[in-house]
Amino acid sequence: MIERTACGKIILFGEHAVVYSRPALAVPLSQLRARVRVQARAMPGIRVRALDVPREFELGDAADDALAVIVRLTLAQLRASADLILEIESAIPMASGLGSGAAISTAVARALAAYFGTEFTPAELAALVYETEKIYHGTPSGIDNTVIAYEQALCFTRKNPPQENALTPFAIARPFTLAIAHTGIASPTKITVGEVRRGWLENPARYEKLFDEIAAIVAQAQAALARGEIETVGAWMTRNQRVLEELGVSSRAIETLLQAGLRAGAFGGKLSGGGRGGNVIFALAPRDAEKIKRALLDAGATSVMITEVGQDLSGF
Ligand code: PMV
Repeated sequence: MIERTACGKIILFGEHAVVYSRPALAVPLSQLRARVRVQARAMPGIRVRALDVPREFELGDAADDALAVIVRLTLAQLRASADLILEIESAIPMASGLGSGAAISTAVARALAAYFGTEFTPAELAALVYETEKIYHGTPSGIDNTVIAYEQALCFTRKNPPQENALTPFAIARPFTLAIAHTGIASPTKITVGEVRRGWLENPARYEKLFDEIAAIVAQAQAALARGEIETVGAWMTRNQRVLEELGVSSRAIETLLQAGLRAGAFGGKLSGGGRGGNVIFALAPRDAEKIKRALLDAGATSVMITEVGQDLSGF
């Protein structure tokens, strides 16, 4: 039996504008992983077991959903076929902007490649998984699958064609504490991305200006991360949030959590990912983590994860 994993991710700065080719910063969440085991099967065909959903299907009977598609695409790329059982488990909450779909697809591709005695490069993995991201997201920028495939903090700029996307690892001079608070509201990225698209089509000048503001914030935040100035990173988060609000992707639930976190002493915060629901992230001092976590739960967060960003990454 072969097992491979893939990490989750979180966008620190630049969501939405990244779809319009502005840079964005995202980091892997190495402690949150999707896991895929592949083993030979005595019966013909490929059986896929998604253990957490739970859901189980024969690949031959499955429609073109993302899970079936990544198995088919990977086998085609490997020019391989076999009778197999795939078991999928993931500790990454679904539909939360933590990259669960891309992580599962990445782990599937890695595990199948390993089963057939080979390995994809991160660029090959990112390209394969991008195909399934289109099913989840419509017009994805490609940031999720890229950060997950490379498992590195990346400044990502979308280009056309996607093979020319610009990726630069960015420096985090001092690891810092991040709180990730869930609003409890599932908000498909496809919807908010579609709304921003409609706004941009109606008033391109206004939206382009907002995207440029986000790009300027991303540059400042990247410089603050490189200097290890976490309070400043927090302040740029809050500035980024204000522009996201102007883009129309914030919500009362996000604002409520944001205010609670800031009142409890976070350096700053913002929504992360598509918006409306999903997660609100905060940069904070480790000594304030418990107090801020409690305040966020009291304000209605359904879960709060405290994590370190910028540590050495664990292998996979
Ligand atoms: O919801 P998430 O974390 O998958 O992120 C969506 C990020 C967007 O910029 C809104 C869309 C995209 O494809 O980059």
